[in-house]
Amino acid sequence: MTGSLDGLIYEPVPGFEDHLEKELGSAPAGGAPGGLWTRYGPFYFVPAALAATGPAASASAVPAVSAATGPRPVFWRRNVWQKPFIREFGSIAGAASILRDIQRNWAPSLFTRFRRGKLIAEKLPPLSGKPRGFPWLLPDVPMGAWTLLDDHTLLASAECASPFPGGIIEFEEDREGPPSRAYLKLWEALTLLRRRPVAGSVCLDAGASPGGWTWALAKLGAKVTAVDRSPLEQRITDMDGVDFIRHDAFTLEPRHIGRIDWLFCDAACYPSRLFEWVEKWLASGLCENYVCTIKMQGSPETADFDTPRRFAALDGSRVVHLYHNKHELTYIRCP
Ligand SMILES: C[S@@+](CC[C@H](N)C(=O)[O-])C[C@H]1O[C@@H](n2cnc3c(N)ncnc32)[C@H](O)[C@@H]1O
Repeated sequence: MTGSLDGLIYEPVPGFEDHLEKELGSAPAGGAPGGLWTRYGPFYFVPAALAATGPAASASAVPAVSAATGPRPVFWRRNVWQKPFIREFGSIAGAASILRDIQRNWAPSLFTRFRRGKLIAEKLPPLSGKPRGFPWLLPDVPMGAWTLLDDHTLLASAECASPFPGGIIEFEEDREGPPSRAYLKLWEALTLLRRRPVAGSVCLDAGASPGGWTWALAKLGAKVTAVDRSPLEQRITDMDGVDFIRHDAFTLEPRHIGRIDWLFCDAACYPSRLFEWVEKWLASGLCENYVCTIKMQGSPETADFDTPRRFAALDGSRVVHLYHNKHELTYIRCP
């Protein structure tokens, strides 16, 4: 039972396991024809050979390749374990030294043997569990993930898609400045990018009301044009660098706005509506950098799984489920 697993392990987004199963192909390996995955506790293992050719990949006309997730377009996951392996160990110290001998940073993701897992974690170099301020420069070091399958078996991966421990990042919240908590997903996206608007950057914030994202951007010193059919909170409209346009964002053509450095959109709309608008902006050549929320609706049977794949296939683009996303994904393009 010891050795590398040739494939990927997906950690689901809690509460959205059904979305992940839809992306992976709904049947477990060894079950109905076309079944792909095997469960390790809450995790889904997909063998490499199947990952490249499964139904979720072939059902889409879009090339199913993404550096972050492997060959299948899988977005409804909190983390991907990219080089999983299984190792048996004798003692708690032995388990810790197996991991420590590979690299420094290891985040536990326990679903069983919690006490034993805690004792192993205490023998590993500590990871800060403190909420981060913003901006916070994410260190460029590998973050591994591990769990216990039983008293003497580790399942782990030194390489993971998320740089955050267990795919989780918490921020020190500002409970007075922003009028909504939506700014947390913007902070997370910019932290992940290791880039952000700076003083004087020209930003469009579409679907901006009541003004959480606009607040976060104005605090960075950016010049923000906020667009919404509803007003922003007045104190946000009054911030330095903020202009507000009361309008349907999607009927504003790129040439109406002109050259911008960043396009942000958190508008509540169908994914296909957002996609058409982003395509127009890309075609215009007037903006390079994008962070847009793709709002999903409905159950796995009715939700639009194709449009996120079309977003991910756009040049230089990716789609992620952020820790601060709920029933939504985030489109990011920052070449
Ligand atoms: C989730 S809220 C945005 C929250 C905001 N990002 C914040 O940080 O406070 C979604 C917003 O999208 C706006 N919206 C929906 N469709 C829109 C459209 N076609 N044009 C402009 N705004 C739109 C709604 O009025 C609503 O204010």
